[in-house]
Amino acid sequence: MIFRQLFDSESSTYTYLLADEVTREAVLIDPVREQLQRDLGLLRELALKLVYVLDTHVHADHVTAAGLLRAEIGARTVAGRRGPSCADLQVCQGDQLRCGSLVVEVLETPGHTDDSLTYKVGNHLFTGDALMIRAAGRTDFQNGDAGQLYDTITQVLFAFPDHTEVHPAHDYKGLTVSTIGEEKRFNARVAGRSRAEFIQLMNGLNLPRPRKIDEAVPANRACGMQDGRTVREIDPAALGSRQSATRLIDVRERAEFAGELRPLPGAQNVPLSTLAAAAAGWSRDEPIIVVCRTGVRSATAAADLAAMGFNHVATVKGGMEALGPDQDAGPAVTVRTER
Ligand SMILES: [Fe+2]
Repeated sequence: MIFRQLFDSESSTYTYLLADEVTREAVLIDPVREQLQRDLGLLRELALKLVYVLDTHVHADHVTAAGLLRAEIGARTVAGRRGPSCADLQVCQGDQLRCGSLVVEVLETPGHTDDSLTYKVGNHLFTGDALMIRAAGRTDFQNGDAGQLYDTITQVLFAFPDHTEVHPAHDYKGLTVSTIGEEKRFNARVAGRSRAEFIQLMNGLNLPRPRKIDEAVPANRACGMQDGRTVREIDPAALGSRQSATRLIDVRERAEFAGELRPLPGAQNVPLSTLAAAAAGWSRDEPIIVVCRTGVRSATAAADLAAMGFNHVATVKGGMEALGPDQDAGPAVTVRTER
């Protein structure tokens, strides 16, 4: 198995990339929105196909890159059944996801938040903030419950063999990995404490409110797409790799198609004036890329789509003029017209 631990220094978040060495299929656990380009670059370099994006819970300290990874490369987003409903899959205890030869087992591990999951892959537990290295996630927001967290740690996670590796979502002291055996012995929040003592400790932490919580929680409940209706601009050079997983809409008038800027392969011609009627039957969660001649009309179209409730809309910066005349469209390309 390919295994990479990645780090976001601003939020001290660990992101994990796991992949099957043969099929090159991959999963990312807890990716951070600001690290999107780093993660896309690594996937490209290692020739990996991202199949699933797994969030352990709705984070309060950073925004997930899940929605962007879905929009950009078509990965499926995964969250808990109490997590964001925008996820492609809302999983629960006992579910399994397959990615090549990798089997990702889902454990419900609430307490830090009510939607918290641990993902188990072989001997590795990805515990989110339920069990951290010598620590445990705070329980004073997002329906956290100290008693529930104690039960999660002592009954669910500590039930695994001592050699089982623990990979948390954060570390603030430079530690990178632990084991169940180590945490049973050295985790000062849990080791040697009764349930009542743990609850008393956690309820008395008096930690400051997370700086980003007011931004991060609503954004993460929208799979990292801010208010869920963000319009993004795509660099023309990066369009090719994203086309297959998206609905590509060309909002130019039909007469404009005869010139040198021929439509892109697979583009659907929906002139701006007809967009609202055409879009009525489309899925609000389907990634959509809008293009026009220069990027002006497509920006209007994208804003209209966002206002209609479409969650993943992007435009091509500079439009067809930026893409240039030779887009491999060729004379045989069929442009689907939808009115
Ligand atoms: Fe958290």
